[in-house]
Amino acid sequence: MAKITASVFTSHVPAIGAAMDLHKDHEPYWQPLFAGYEKSKEWMKANKPDVIILVFNDHATAFDLSMIPTFAIGCADSYTPADEGWGPRPVPRVQGHAALSAHIAQSVIQQDFDLTVVNHMDVDHGLTVPLSLMCGEQDPVNGAWPCPVIPFAVNVVQYPAPSGQRCLNLGKAIRRAVESYEDASGKELNVQIWGTGGMSHQLQGPRAGLINLDFDKQFIERMVTDPEGLAKMPHVDYIREAGSEGIELVMWLIARGAMSDLRDSAQGEATAGKAPKEIHRFHHVPASNTSVGHLILENS
Ligand code: DHB
Ligand code: FE
Repeated sequence: MAKITASVFTSHVPAIGAAMDLHKDHEPYWQPLFAGYEKSKEWMKANKPDVIILVFNDHATAFDLSMIPTFAIGCADSYTPADEGWGPRPVPRVQGHAALSAHIAQSVIQQDFDLTVVNHMDVDHGLTVPLSLMCGEQDPVNGAWPCPVIPFAVNVVQYPAPSGQRCLNLGKAIRRAVESYEDASGKELNVQIWGTGGMSHQLQGPRAGLINLDFDKQFIERMVTDPEGLAKMPHVDYIREAGSEGIELVMWLIARGAMSDLRDSAQGEATAGKAPKEIHRFHHVPASNTSVGHLILENS
């Protein structure tokens, strides 16, 4: 009674949010970036989900260095946009879906993934910038995001971060959880899962400013055609090729793992579904210090 229909992948550069909030999106620096998301906004309007599971990383906002869960699921009714030092972004509060969150926590933890249950969490640019890119500007007071969002936070800030393989397997577990959900309304929920962060970027040290277009393009291609192979890539390859913050890309594998072509016969699941349909692919360099990548896949 709930189904994952599509996955969305996008970078989350905070300066993109600031450009929108300060109405700089038509300036020459920003215009080509936002042009790449026009099709995405139209697609979102035509394919409005009932819930988005938004996989992102917190940047020492909700969690500081005193405590960093590897995987944390938001189970609250709503989430406040965080103050990251310049005041909170002027965007609407994020409404949650506590019932589906609680079900995913129950199901995924019983599938042997340790999730931290978070009942109160402010959400930073990692979550609000992808929403802004995909849904466009919203009035902070009278506006609203198009649907409830379940924040799913992954530690990619302090090592050890989870491996790509664990992220892909977690995505498979999340899909099973979603498919076993029964909504109180009796209606089948249309659920999207988003993987965010990346692509290549390094914000500090001698290699600050690193961007690797070849790596990024190949990563997007393999997300479509070879996610199981991509999941085997070790952390050191992300760091060498995509910079220290390029490790954010492991989060894309969670969303990719939830697509229905990756059904797992070891779990007694029926044969794999068809390969997903690629709706949109976009790449733009740079936004701030980051190579921006974006992909939309629909389950066939
Ligand atoms: C930038 C990118 C990020 O992913 C981030 O979390 C902060 C800053 C940047 O390119 O400026
Ligand atoms: Fe980041």
